[in-house]
Amino acid sequence: MKALVLSGGAGTRLRPITHTSAKQLVPVANKAVLFYGLESIAAAGITEVGVIVGDTADEIREAVGDGASFGLDVTYLPQARPLGLAHAVLIARDYLGDDDFVMYLGDNFIVGGITGLVDAFRHTRPDAQILLTRVPDPRAFGVAELNGCGQVVGLEEKPDHPKSDLALVGVYLFTPVIHEAVRAISPSRRGELEITHAIQHLIDTGADVRSTLVKGYWKDTGNVVDMLEVNRTVLESVERRIDGDVDGRSETIGRVVVEEGARVVNSRVVGPVVIGAGTEVRDSYVGPFTSIAENCRITDSELEFSIVLRDSSIHGVGRIENSLIGRHVEVTPAPVVPSAHRLVLGDHSKVQIHT
Ligand code: TTP
Repeated sequence: MKALVLSGGAGTRLRPITHTSAKQLVPVANKAVLFYGLESIAAAGITEVGVIVGDTADEIREAVGDGASFGLDVTYLPQARPLGLAHAVLIARDYLGDDDFVMYLGDNFIVGGITGLVDAFRHTRPDAQILLTRVPDPRAFGVAELNGCGQVVGLEEKPDHPKSDLALVGVYLFTPVIHEAVRAISPSRRGELEITHAIQHLIDTGADVRSTLVKGYWKDTGNVVDMLEVNRTVLESVERRIDGDVDGRSETIGRVVVEEGARVVNSRVVGPVVIGAGTEVRDSYVGPFTSIAENCRITDSELEFSIVLRDSSIHGVGRIENSLIGRHVEVTPAPVVPSAHRLVLGDHSKVQIHT
């Protein structure tokens, strides 16, 4: 069995972060979202992994390499444009050969891994197996309709009037019959080859498509709110570890990780929090559910429920909450006079100013 990991895409919902970097590499508790997926695949006993890459191919290649650090053998499969999840299967045809495979969306996060699922699929081997989870508002997802025996009878992509509250999770198990289905479908209204259409084609041609309800936690980290929420969930289970320097005037409370080479000076850190190597927190408060990546400077500020990517600095700006801050960002106070906000914001930035 192989794995197909989708790490291309446009990432429009995470702009401007995705103008310059891959959304699959945004860190959750200071580890790339994609790495959690690759670890789950390795844990399920799969070693051959095809990684679909798009515009951010170089960055993904640099981060994942040949996969050896995950115990994987990774092959990169370039996708010229993000033409849909089924298009990714189409271009992976030669790589996948006649093997069964698990398709894993590189920006999805599943607590509890996929080992049980993969084992069950190997044992029962239906034509395809999808994962579902109940969501309050299914209109933003692929939605499944089941019959009384739990068999999938219909799938719709982002329906205005969903027939159930069962949303498709970004992990799919396929036998090679899917290749015929992705060749049979046409692009949708949004111009993509939809995997839901390919699975619907399987259903229409009498294939055995089964579903499993995900018991654990699942999130698509495609937007900022979900990304912060996944970060919160992962931080819930970090163990306290102080490998860096915390001076005598500082207080670290609860599950706080201070990586080697990080410094906390005259500050109060209330976990769960992770502070990356080479980062300095000085004269500041860092509150629960905050991840600060490597080589950042936080001074005279308060930060809570946020993710800060590497090489950024926040200085003297009061309190920041619910924020996703990119790499090499500087947040500083404006001069006292004139009393005005001064902004240099990239395309698609979002700023909420407290007045
Ligand atoms: P999506 O989040 O559905 O699509 P996207 O990345 O284009 O994001 P947005 O909607 O914000 O513009 O993609 C799910 C995953 O699959 C994600 O990791 C990107 C990847 N992907 C590909 O590799 N190729 C594709 O053609 C598409 C559509 C997605």
